[in-house]
Amino acid sequence: MSTKNHEFQLAERAEGHIIPGRTFKLVEIDMPTAADLKDGQVLLETHYLSLDPAMRGWIQDFRSYLPPVAIGGRMRGNVLSKVLASKSSKAKEGDMVTSFCGWTEFAIIDDKFIQPDNLPKGTKVTDALGAAGLTGWTAYFGLKHIGQPKAGETVVVSGAAGATGSVVGQICKLKGCRVIGIAGSDEKCQMLTRELGFDVALNYKSPTFREDLVKATPDFIDIYWDNVGGEILSIALDQSASHARFVMCGSISGYNNEGRKATGVQNLYRVTTSRIRMEGFVVTDYSAEIPAAREELGQWLAEGKIKRKETIVKGGLKMAEHAIGDLFTGKNTGKLLVEVKACEE
Ligand SMILES: NC(=O)c1ccc[n+]([C@@H]2O[C@H](COP(=O)([O-])OP(=O)(O)OC[C@H]3O[C@@H](n4cnc5c(N)ncnc54)[C@H](OP(=O)(O)O)[C@@H]3O)[C@@H](O)[C@H]2O)c1
Repeated sequence: MSTKNHEFQLAERAEGHIIPGRTFKLVEIDMPTAADLKDGQVLLETHYLSLDPAMRGWIQDFRSYLPPVAIGGRMRGNVLSKVLASKSSKAKEGDMVTSFCGWTEFAIIDDKFIQPDNLPKGTKVTDALGAAGLTGWTAYFGLKHIGQPKAGETVVVSGAAGATGSVVGQICKLKGCRVIGIAGSDEKCQMLTRELGFDVALNYKSPTFREDLVKATPDFIDIYWDNVGGEILSIALDQSASHARFVMCGSISGYNNEGRKATGVQNLYRVTTSRIRMEGFVVTDYSAEIPAAREELGQWLAEGKIKRKETIVKGGLKMAEHAIGDLFTGKNTGKLLVEVKACEE
């Protein structure tokens, strides 16, 4: 067995897009071993690395909910790992756990930072990073606390074919809403209506997108789930119902802007006159509710009430710096993961 580990370190703060071979540096270091464990720690081997749009922000030095990744520091990331050795009562050898130990093949971590992968039978191991993991929790908490969908309401989801949006739309269907998804290709739109049960799906790249959205929302929009920001948000504001709730989850269309200048939302007049509630949140605001979210999402997945969508990039950790760009070109459908080491189910 190799005694070497590989990890990605941040080499520079990207201006604009992340550039493979430049933004990050892949380094070879000694592999940690069981002999290095202190009480309360576990030795982990990474199987899957979650790639998230938020990573673009984490490598930037600006005021945010987390400190930036340091230059020369290991890149932050949510991973699914196997416990190789344990000096913790929370996990034993062979257990699968998720943690934020980052873009690395092996790591030692304190047990207070691990989450058990104890999803019900009928789920997939990667669901712990996707629809029943941080992505699913984001959808679940944003809807529970801000969107508060009720039967018969009209919900519009941007980034609908992505990891978070695909779960948001399906939960809203379970709640009896009429759900309109917005995505960047006709194939993604077909997937949303044919596979995931969305009522309507619209391609925002179509020249008739604005008219299409107006036509699809004759009773206006009660809940708008924003993953994208920019022009699509502006159009959704114009089409909002009175007392609409705008769940401000993310604004990926602006993440690669130099200096992250605000993208144009000219429509704040409508926020006032329609008494719209626009509220941002970060998934970790609701950490205490994670066990309940994981259980309900896991149950829905196991029962087939929601379907997972995932794009898994094979080829090991080295693929991470290439694959992260797929989030910004829309190459992924559903949860984007790098398979660092295949996992037998
Ligand atoms: N608040 C929180 O705690 C929290 C937690 C997780 C995620 N988020 C946010 O949720 C959003 C979705 O994250 P995710 O992990 O689920 O990623 P994702 O939706 O799986 O992937 C990103 C998708 O965004 C779309 N996109 C990229 N550039 C775009 C642009 N300029 N205009 C419109 N769409 C664009 C692409 O799909 P198309 O092909 O459709 O363009 C792409 O597939 C992000 O804004 C993220 O920051 C927030």
